[in-house]
Amino acid sequence: MSQNVYLQAVSLGLGTVTIGAFYDEDVKKVVGLPDNEQPLYLMPVGKP
Ligand SMILES: Cc1cc2nc3c(=O)[nH]c(=O)nc-3n(C[C@H](O)[C@H](O)[C@H](O)COP(=O)(O)O)c2cc1C
Repeated sequence: MSQNVYLQAVSLGLGTVTIGAFYDEDVKKVVGLPDNEQPLYLMPVGKP
């Protein structure tokens, strides 16, 4: 899935990066994840 995000970002002229180290509970709050879901991987996408 990450590879596809990278490929799509490049095709749109955007940049992305994989992030595996973050504060899980803070990310859960920010994106509003329910208790039974865990964040595994972050991929911010934006203009390079
Ligand atoms: C599974 C995975 C998790 C990663 N997690 C982090 C991370 O938490 N923090 C970080 O600085 N880089 C992390 N990286 C590395 C970055 O994705 C990236 O490869 C690195 O920052 C070098 O980027 P650059 O080649 O554009 O300079 C991770 C890479 C992988 C494959």
